[in-house]
Amino acid sequence: MNNKLILVIGSSNTDMTAKTQELPRPGETVLGGVFTMGAGGKGANQAVAAQRLGGNVKFICKVGRDMFGDNAIAQYNKEGMDTSGILRSDLPSGVALIYVDSHAENCIVVASGANGDLTEKDIEASKAAIESCGILLLQLESPISSVLKAAKMAHEAGAMVVLNPAPACPLPEELFRYIDLFIPNETELSTFSGLPVENAESAEKAAKAMQQKGVGKLIVTMGSKGALICDGDKPVFVPAHKVKAVDTTAAGDTFCGALCVAISEGKSLKEAAEFACAASALTVQKMGAQNSIPFRKDINI
Ligand code: RIB
Repeated sequence: MNNKLILVIGSSNTDMTAKTQELPRPGETVLGGVFTMGAGGKGANQAVAAQRLGGNVKFICKVGRDMFGDNAIAQYNKEGMDTSGILRSDLPSGVALIYVDSHAENCIVVASGANGDLTEKDIEASKAAIESCGILLLQLESPISSVLKAAKMAHEAGAMVVLNPAPACPLPEELFRYIDLFIPNETELSTFSGLPVENAESAEKAAKAMQQKGVGKLIVTMGSKGALICDGDKPVFVPAHKVKAVDTTAAGDTFCGALCVAISEGKSLKEAAEFACAASALTVQKMGAQNSIPFRKDINI
């Protein structure tokens, strides 16, 4: 096993983002501001974050045989990550339609396209990479059967399996047994545990419920408050940096990618969460997903 290899399996999207004063309500049309198009997708964002922050990264995703797919692969090659496992589908490449309001909040609709075509067979074909990585980093923008298969294979091979359960959706209970590190936000933690999560105390209770389902350790991301590490001992809270956010898109993805890099370097979970908080604080200060992900030289830790 290559302890340093961070394998990210997940989505690749082209993000189409419009700025708006306030997010529209159902049935409402609002006039927005600037429109931008850029590389995104939770899987790709996490892979790019890990690569820019110093990780040894391989990224596996599925894109269409179209201009968006070509551009995405060219971009990931430029980043310097291993793209040899990227696959093509006859479906169109994934696209995300994003609105960002004046409070830096967003809402996103993902048209999954080729991401939804990442099959269990594809995962089986990626066996060598899955069984040789040190860390496997997963999210939920890929078919759940494929996420489950990858997690099981990596777990059985002795890799550390990290799941960022976003966007939240029903999961087979079996999956939790393969997860060494679970990184939900407060809403996701509440969904998966079935318990309210409003503060550090309730997050700790919900984290314990997840551990009873088989999850190893948890880091609960709490937005502008920070992150709570629940590793079985007394929970440790790592405060977020106080910054002026303009767009929170990819902040969670940056956190996950950064965290995996620090873990692959042998840092403690607390040190890794501090590094990840520093990285995501930079992401929220710029517009866009991959456009806003920092490089190692930008972080003074
Ligand atoms: O987490 C942010 C990402 O979610 C965006 O880049 C968008 O593509 C959606 O997948």
